[in-house]
Amino acid sequence: MRRWLSAAGDRVAVRVPAKINLFLAVRGRRADGYHDLTTVLQTLSLYDTVTARLAGPPGRSQHPAARRRMGLEVRCDVEGVPRGRDNLALRAARLLGESTNVLAADDDAEAPGGGEGDDAGGDALIPADAAAWLPGSGARTVVDLDKSIPVAAGFAGGSADAAGALRALNILWGCDLDDGELRDVGAAVGSDVPFCVIGGTALATGRGEALARVLCRGRFHWVLGIDAAPLSTAEVYRAWDAGCAPSETEPDAVLAALVAGDAEALGAALHNELQAPALQLRPRLEAGRRTLLEAGALGAVVSGSGPTLLGLARDGDHAREMAAAAAAHFDVVRVAVSPAGGPEPVDDRR
Ligand code: C5P
Repeated sequence: MRRWLSAAGDRVAVRVPAKINLFLAVRGRRADGYHDLTTVLQTLSLYDTVTARLAGPPGRSQHPAARRRMGLEVRCDVEGVPRGRDNLALRAARLLGESTNVLAADDDAEAPGGGEGDDAGGDALIPADAAAWLPGSGARTVVDLDKSIPVAAGFAGGSADAAGALRALNILWGCDLDDGELRDVGAAVGSDVPFCVIGGTALATGRGEALARVLCRGRFHWVLGIDAAPLSTAEVYRAWDAGCAPSETEPDAVLAALVAGDAEALGAALHNELQAPALQLRPRLEAGRRTLLEAGALGAVVSGSGPTLLGLARDGDHAREMAAAAAAHFDVVRVAVSPAGGPEPVDDRR
């Protein structure tokens, strides 16, 4: 793992892909308010880069004693990315740090001028002059989120950032957790985080965190019709509660299409039971779905809890033609391929 550290041993960057649901059935609402699902997840070639680095007085931040009192800062200047405790990368970093004893619990709860939970301020979740009040060393870890995955669009970008932070900090802090342990930390952060930690293609049950890898022989080309106004996942589930019944539909057709690498069969099998409540909250998405189908999509479906629409193309050329034909209908149109592997450290040695 050390080979991914910068030459000075103080920096690791991880590139992490978005995810899409090729199949999503809602089995019912649970006592804890979450919903039991059966879903087939696959990574998509839109990426964020999560860079974790040690900052503070030279030498000090490397010292084990300094690390126990380390501050933590997550920076992102993209609009719509949550601040404070709602930021999944920050939650993941804090949980990993506390469970591996790199961070002291609640270190920054009494931070002057706002620690976690302070939604008022600028990009840093801990003030930029944190070193002035962090006890003793001034050492801190800074996590930068360089985002290209659209925010709150149904691509699990926040979960991807959390997974990227776990991967990067596991290396930077020398925690040495294995994949299963990282997935367990991820499950406490959010339902999609365990999948984002491993990537590829998987069948998930429970609230989405219980995973089995799925064989996928194909490479699939997508047109993404992006609606700039975000849609809240919790709200979509509430609309499901109000208007939908548990389903027993199984993902056999999607799984068979993936094994065969058959885009046409996959297009016909795409299935998302959050689509109906998402359309109810945002009726204009139905016209977007029709636009993609009229542009020649083999299948078109809402991505996750929306509001992005996915249109499956025959190949890369077809995806570009479809994107051109559908461009006027959406705020943004992009093309991407799936599966896109998992989070990967970037060779960042300097
Ligand atoms: O787990 P995560 O924080 O990503 O979920 C966001 C919201 O989506 C939850 O607060 C919950 O309202 C809803 N959700 C759900 N059932 C799931 C996953 C998410 O009800 N299986």
